Amino acid sequence: MSIIYSPEEGLITLRTKNTVYQMKADEIGTLLHTWYGEDTGEEDLSYAIHRMNRGFSGNPHEKGMTDRSYSFDQLPLETATFGAGDYRTAAIMVRHEDGSRALRLRFSGCRICPGKYTLPDLPASVEDKDDKAETLIVTMEDPEGGVKAELFYGVFPEKDVITRALRLTNTGRGEKRILKAAPLSLDFITGEYDLISFNGKWAKERVPERQALRCGVQSFGSVRGASSHHHNPSAILCEPSATEDKGKCWGISFVYSGEFLFEAERDMIGQTRLVLGIHPDDFEWVLQPGESFTSPEVLLTYSSEGFSGISRQFHDFIRKNIVRGYWRDRPRPILINNWEATYFYFTGEKLIEIASTAKDLGIEMLVMDDGWFGDRNSDYNALGDWEPNEEKLGMTLHELGARLEDLGMRFGIWFEPETISEDSDLFRAHPDWAIAVPGRAPDLSRSELLLDMSRRDVQDYIIEKMSAVIEEGRASYVKWDFNRSMCDKFTHALPAGRQGEMAHRFVLGTYRVLESLLTRFPELLIEGCSGGGGRFDCGMLYYTPQIWCSDNTDPVERLTIQYGTSFIYPVNTMGAHVSASPNHQTGRTTPMETRSAVAMSGTFGYELDPNRLSEEEKEEIRRGIRVFSELRELIHGGDYYRLTRPDDTGCTVFEEAAKDGKKALVTAVYDHVRANPAPVYVCLHGLKEEKNYRLRLIPGHVQKGRNNPADEAYREGQTIRGSSLMKRGIYIPQYTKEYQSWQILIEEEE
Ligand code: DGJ
Repeated sequence: MSIIYSPEEGLITLRTKNTVYQMKADEIGTLLHTWYGEDTGEEDLSYAIHRMNRGFSGNPHEKGMTDRSYSFDQLPLETATFGAGDYRTAAIMVRHEDGSRALRLRFSGCRICPGKYTLPDLPASVEDKDDKAETLIVTMEDPEGGVKAELFYGVFPEKDVITRALRLTNTGRGEKRILKAAPLSLDFITGEYDLISFNGKWAKERVPERQALRCGVQSFGSVRGASSHHHNPSAILCEPSATEDKGKCWGISFVYSGEFLFEAERDMIGQTRLVLGIHPDDFEWVLQPGESFTSPEVLLTYSSEGFSGISRQFHDFIRKNIVRGYWRDRPRPILINNWEATYFYFTGEKLIEIASTAKDLGIEMLVMDDGWFGDRNSDYNALGDWEPNEEKLGMTLHELGARLEDLGMRFGIWFEPETISEDSDLFRAHPDWAIAVPGRAPDLSRSELLLDMSRRDVQDYIIEKMSAVIEEGRASYVKWDFNRSMCDKFTHALPAGRQGEMAHRFVLGTYRVLESLLTRFPELLIEGCSGGGGRFDCGMLYYTPQIWCSDNTDPVERLTIQYGTSFIYPVNTMGAHVSASPNHQTGRTTPMETRSAVAMSGTFGYELDPNRLSEEEKEEIRRGIRVFSELRELIHGGDYYRLTRPDDTGCTVFEEAAKDGKKALVTAVYDHVRANPAPVYVCLHGLKEEKNYRLRLIPGHVQKGRNNPADEAYREGQTIRGSSLMKRGIYIPQYTKEYQSWQILIEEEE
């Protein structure tokens, strides 16, 4: 049993393999948060909560006359509400029918249910076999205010993950407006902390930034309609001494793809509160009496083994409990995408040419990117006109799909479903389907507008159009793109007083379309994309098992992007392709084997015209595909370790270790070259101390040029004990040219 409730004490303890999460309802119904961290057993930890009269911290009426030390302003609370004595960051804000906003929730009971809760119309983690997940639903009420809050907890004991969601119900007589509904409200009464967030921009997503929390509120979020390139809806809180391998860390990730706000507040006595939920700036949800609103879910994990521990726990969880369906455990096809090969300038024959050479190299699927529909030959028009341009293709979609099938290639196709061009038949027919404020010219971005996904007729149009195309081309893959941020929010489907629901309803509409397509085509593989990785979050991963990590395909730049992404998300969710050299974004020239090595630590695909390659480059592609096919299970299913930080040593090194400790792959890429450099040493992880391992550079990966004779040892196949590999470490072979990479396979000796 992972949820233990003691009604006499009001104590609720959630236990996972290595962690405890605890809350306690006190004598006046306040639900105190007593602990989230390492396993402390089932003891009531409320003894550690210190109280004193600090002045200007009010006291609840029940306590006020006799006890001035009891204040919501200081107590660690399981959920924080606005306006009734807690002056710190609130997780829940409601405007009542009389205009007041004070809310005070008191514990009124709880239920424990087997299995994991689901959330209506929202993505939420699902229980896997052997998870023995349990659900706790805590009910809290504000009888004077007429609001009920239900706090949902999913406990995954073996995975050390706890999930939270929130449902608010109007139990009063008048209309309520929810102004903020954050499922995460997490208080820490002691400790100094650093916060790691993942920030960036287009073509440079999810760069980790670490900062010490100072007094006051530190926040990041998105008001762009999507989770965004700029801030990922995830974070790690850690003690200041935490490193990759050591130290207490809390991982947080939002299962949501829309606007979000993460707030961390350090208060007057050094306590810390974390709040994460839908961004309140453009959110106001109306509840009539009896109606409820359910928030998206947030994932929590704790590890005392540094960031690496958080990453491994999240990777396991996302791979099995967020990603679901047909492709969860299946090897994903190695694809070739024509975007960087042709951009908008292609015909059906050109694609067949690419596909037949690709097939010969070992590639399994051709993805036709933007430009196949309407009269779209640039990014100025035709979004929404999802009819194949047979004149441009020189064939029907059916014929294209059939010819690819004859070649033995799968067929994938690009869409940008949530958008509309002003210059499109769809816009001419339904101008009100585009998001714009009446009477105000909307802001264009990439010359496009967004469709009002909050409307059911719009959602149904997209479902029908996409289904027809998928059926006609017998497509088994869809690249789902989204190339702008949202603004000028307005929907014709709601009255003036409910426009604050639009941004969230947009996300719900997108989720509905995704779910409908997966119901209709259960074997369809959808790859998420938003101008690269602008919507890389667990909400999307619930529908799209992989997401294009970035439009930046330069392997050296990708080292940083994939490094940052790996803190939360597993390698098999990161769309990564080998592209042409010089690279189209940076102009950098890199060896083909380095491009392969980097893309291999992702979903692995290609984005170039293979007919323009030399025989030597083609041979290198064949080699890369052979290596990946042989090691796919290890790379996509193993434990991931970041061994260096990009830019620190001039060499980025990471490792994928098999769960059984029998094998590991170390990949190292030199991102700087210097004369007479210091050697790069790394300690490995995930091996068995007492076993011997054979080290070898992956056959064929030994590169032409002047190898350092000392590096020959790798080629001879050295044998080293697991304990030495993990404690003493290994050196990375020296480079003989710029951007050289090495892949070292480490295998247990029989
Ligand atoms: C942005 C995507 O990230 C690219 O890969 C490509 O699909 C273009 N859109 C097409 O317009």
